Amino acid sequence: MATYLVTGGSGFIGSNFILRLLRERPDARVINLDKLTYAGNPANLRDIEGDERYRFVHGDICDAHLVKDLVQDADYVVHFAAESHVDRSLMEPGSFIQTDVFGTYTLLEAARQTRRLRRVLHISTDEVYGEVLPEDTPSVETDPFNPRSPYSASKAGGEMQCRAYIETYGLPIIVARPANNVGPRQHIEKFVPLCTTNALNDQPIPIYGDGQQVRDRLFVEDHCEALDLLLHEGEPGEAYNIGADNQRPNLEVAELILDLLEKPRSLIRFVEDRTGHDRGYFLDSAKIHGLGWAPKHNFQQTIERTVKWYLQNRWWWEEVRDERFAEYYEQQYGKRLAEATTYPSGKIAN
Ligand SMILES: NC(=O)c1ccc[n+]([C@@H]2O[C@H](COP(=O)([O-])OP(=O)(O)OC[C@H]3O[C@@H](n4cnc5c(N)ncnc54)[C@H](O)[C@@H]3O)[C@@H](O)[C@H]2O)c1
Repeated sequence: MATYLVTGGSGFIGSNFILRLLRERPDARVINLDKLTYAGNPANLRDIEGDERYRFVHGDICDAHLVKDLVQDADYVVHFAAESHVDRSLMEPGSFIQTDVFGTYTLLEAARQTRRLRRVLHISTDEVYGEVLPEDTPSVETDPFNPRSPYSASKAGGEMQCRAYIETYGLPIIVARPANNVGPRQHIEKFVPLCTTNALNDQPIPIYGDGQQVRDRLFVEDHCEALDLLLHEGEPGEAYNIGADNQRPNLEVAELILDLLEKPRSLIRFVEDRTGHDRGYFLDSAKIHGLGWAPKHNFQQTIERTVKWYLQNRWWWEEVRDERFAEYYEQQYGKRLAEATTYPSGKIAN
């Protein structure tokens, strides 16, 4: 048996990763360390609650004693835990620095004090490269960092800690820099689930600025397959971009979701953009292709499978759409929606 310590496993990508790991690797035992912030959802892993190969630990990755204990038992560490929402990072940057930078340091400190550990997989993001426009050269792993939001700056800070621990202590760390994930169990604050669930409730869909910000939509199952490959066959000390070449502007994504759900495009509202909003990210993923990975879902399939899941799992997202979420939503979109421009006439200037 091999023991995998997964941090942030109750969130979106972490839960998909754990479900896949237990399904695909009969020799895997999983410890999930999660603080259960607003983004952590025990319902994500309800199906494996009774599985004897799975153990949940409710705790904070900033808790050095707890983390040290858990890392002692691990053969592999997969580090997802983070504050992950860019919009919220503009509201409260401190919690991002605490978890994404200090939390990562705490984990690395524990990792360097154990002899047993085979690999650490750190989940970074394509956002560390900063804004990359369609006419620019896609980012390669050796490009410099240029983060522009408190979120991406915190993720860059966490990743720089990894670099230091690779160089200084020889820790066998592999870094993943994935594109925008979509798929089942993503919190409804994020773009695709927000569009989908608002549409299902016949509520307006807020689109920042002119909606022409481009993101590469990577289906979460393809991403998890890539992470499994990197963990077991990636080169320690190396970073890998993970993109799907499914780049589309946000507006086109919202239009497709409405069309799939047979809802009117007039639900779209153009709202004031957030400051420092990167217009695009573009990854060159040749390095991970060289290990034999390629995404199985194109843009249409990615959005279709995601929308279908939210359509079939209304109970899941209705639980998340609680008072706490309503408060956040009002703070982020209340005034913006009151001043919005309707579709398709006026797109408001940035
Ligand atoms: N979702 C994406 O599109 C995307 C893209 C690139 C990179 N990433 C990175 O992938 C990772 C996972 O993203 P996600 O979308 O699943 O995030 P998420 O917000 O859905 O989940 C984060 C999880 O971490 C837990 N957590 C937060 N702070 C913690 C702490 N201090 N201690 C322990 N647990 C804590 C939360 O409870 C939650 O379960 C993050 O590191 C994120 O930066 C995400």
